[in-house]
Amino acid sequence: MTTAASAPNLDKGLANTIAAESQMSFIDGQAGILEYVGIHIDDLARNSSFEETVYLLWNLRLPTRDELAAFRKELAAEYDLPAGMWEFIRGLPKSAKPMHALRTMVSALALFDPEADDPSPEANHRKAVRLVAKTPTLIAAYDRHRKGKDFVKPDASKPIAESFLAMLNGQAPTEAMTRGMDICLILHADHGLNASTFAARVTISTLSDLYSAMTSAIGTLKGPLHGGANEGVMVMLKEIGSIDKVEPFVRAKLADKSKIMGFGHRVYKAYDPRATYLKTFAKQIASDTGNQKLYEMSYKIEQIMEAEVGPKGIHPNVDFYSATTYFSLGLDIDLFTPMFAMARMPGWLGHCLEQLSDNKLIRPRAEYVGPHNVDYVAIDKR
Ligand code: COA
Repeated sequence: MTTAASAPNLDKGLANTIAAESQMSFIDGQAGILEYVGIHIDDLARNSSFEETVYLLWNLRLPTRDELAAFRKELAAEYDLPAGMWEFIRGLPKSAKPMHALRTMVSALALFDPEADDPSPEANHRKAVRLVAKTPTLIAAYDRHRKGKDFVKPDASKPIAESFLAMLNGQAPTEAMTRGMDICLILHADHGLNASTFAARVTISTLSDLYSAMTSAIGTLKGPLHGGANEGVMVMLKEIGSIDKVEPFVRAKLADKSKIMGFGHRVYKAYDPRATYLKTFAKQIASDTGNQKLYEMSYKIEQIMEAEVGPKGIHPNVDFYSATTYFSLGLDIDLFTPMFAMARMPGWLGHCLEQLSDNKLIRPRAEYVGPHNVDYVAIDKR
């Protein structure tokens, strides 16, 4: 039974509920616009760096040259892990999926941080820096561990994108690879109150700690309807296998009412602005690395989908061309979602700091739809 008092606004999926205020990213889903602190994402992807974007999200303005240099230094000083953390990674099962490993490692970082439960703004800033700086190291270290390779330590003289690729692959990346990685990081850094960001805000709204909030966020990002979709796209491209099989595959899925991974978005009903830039970039990097086939298959899927479901507002989302990009950068498929987590970490953290600056416990209500006045039946009478 529904009464106005018990369920004033039942909104499944919360699509029509505004649950927080944020000054970081603005999304116009109908027009296909994404801005960070008012700056168009395209402008940032072309001109900014990940570090500068993180500064922008946390300070709500671009840094001066000196401020950026100081911030890069602050981050780089935190790339390395505590000695106990390297040991911890060595103890993880090599068969674990990287997202399970990442969620566990980020949670474990708190065990080595004496400031984990210090709620002061200064300590929270230091923890936010640590989390952004150490997450790439965790991902690369776990990948090397599971492959039986020696760890490669982070390089504090290099930006995050470059240091990450060098740790992961054991060799210095090309300039194009570093730039590609940096662009992916910028494009994924924040995106309003998406499911994982909401999870982070819910956790911090209880006045828990930033490590717990990031652990919640990573667990939430993992699902195939959220961050896991980029892996789903690559699995689909592999399953299709060749360009001539694209059309029958897509048509069969649509006839079956199955979803094509990498298409559709809760907010964007126009073309996802992140996908616009990634599409151009994916084409370039795929051709540079001999992966044109992946791009061509993706493009063909897009053409069919545009004709069939485009008019319903279903277009490629950020995950669709990320798949070709990450694969061309040499990442294993199961590292795609950890990459997303590494990129989104500044957004999650920025939202937590915003939440704390004007906190109210996030606690929505459920509409009870079960029975009332039911007698308790003794166990031997059931
Ligand atoms: N492929 C084919 N059809 C799709 C589709 C897709 N990827 N995404 C949505 N649709 C169709 C639905 O079948 C539905 O059709 P109907 O009206 O005939 O029933 C309609 O579009 C609305 O879809 P719905 O699932 O209700 O939208 P939503 O806002 O709840 O879901 C997503 C958004 C992202 C969960 C959904 O589009 C999806 O599952 N996409 C694939 C996973 C993905 O790429 N996720 C990453 C998001 S960044």
